[in-house]
Amino acid sequence: MSVSRTIDALKARTRIPVIAAPMFLISGIELVCAACKAGIIGCFPAANARTIEALDEWCATIAERCRDTAPWSMNMITNRAYARFSDELAIVARHKPPLLITALGSPAPVLDTVHGYGGLVFADVTTPTLARKAVEAGADGLVLVCAGAGGHTGSYSPFAFMGAVREFWDGPVVLSGGIANAASVLAAQALGADFAYMGTRFIASQESLGDAARKEMTIAVTMEDIVTSACVTGVPANWMWPSLEAAGFKRDDLKSERKMDFTTTDSAKPWKNIWGAGQAVGAVHAVEPVAAIVDRLVADYEALRARRS
Ligand SMILES: Cc1cc2nc3c(=O)[nH]c(=O)nc-3n(C[C@H](O)[C@H](O)[C@H](O)COP(=O)(O)O)c2cc1C
Repeated sequence: MSVSRTIDALKARTRIPVIAAPMFLISGIELVCAACKAGIIGCFPAANARTIEALDEWCATIAERCRDTAPWSMNMITNRAYARFSDELAIVARHKPPLLITALGSPAPVLDTVHGYGGLVFADVTTPTLARKAVEAGADGLVLVCAGAGGHTGSYSPFAFMGAVREFWDGPVVLSGGIANAASVLAAQALGADFAYMGTRFIASQESLGDAARKEMTIAVTMEDIVTSACVTGVPANWMWPSLEAAGFKRDDLKSERKMDFTTTDSAKPWKNIWGAGQAVGAVHAVEPVAAIVDRLVADYEALRARRS
């Protein structure tokens, strides 16, 4: 099947073209399955399953529970230095996620395996240069991570980034960065995106693996509490300032373009107690089941589309 027909087939299994984006220490079996059941693509980073054996079980469970729902997806680090790469790829071959989203490396090493069972490979990119490299490596689609995204973020406006990418790529695109409501999903589609990628919106979902304090902070903060800095992991990422402050960071530390040493102490572990989130935090007002979030998103989306037609 051609890539565009495969994309159409994936979309036909969703109620709204949205992917629940993979989030480290947040997206587990329950979040993925709830997303797929609610009618959007559910995705998780393979690294959330702490061992390869656990990952095998996660994938078996998700594949079984999501057989008749919206499609599921896995996110995988494809950097050759990543120790679990070969083992994770063997699990991909066994459980066949319909969509594999690659991060921190070229999509090339996973293409044969995923194409072998009819799946698609999308590459997560933050710049037009990386987008072009991913296309040249053979990716079926691109995830454009734009300014405002939670976790490791891009810095480009979705308008400019999409325009730059459309100069050399007319294939599938997923757009991300601050998308949390129906109007933004429609806007992403108006820009030519096939799917919107929503991470932050689901951090405080009932099914999220995040603990209560983290969910509370996600609800309490506004977009003005989100800071972009490389000082935590060495790569620019968006964080909730109160979690950095609690870990001992000072405002000046945010300027560091390199990872700072004291983040390795127990009370200052990136992702575990220094919490990533994007500018979409302002849309998060309560801990809710994924189904409630998606139902409201779909209802708003249909109402907006009806108003515009
Ligand atoms: C707490 C957190 C953890 C994340 N972990 C990962 C990850 O492990 N792998 C990945 O590719 N992206 C990760 N992301 C990025 C998301 O997949 C996605 O790009 C981002 O959340 C989209 O922007 P939004 O938060 O504005 O919706 C993470 C984001 C957050 C907020």
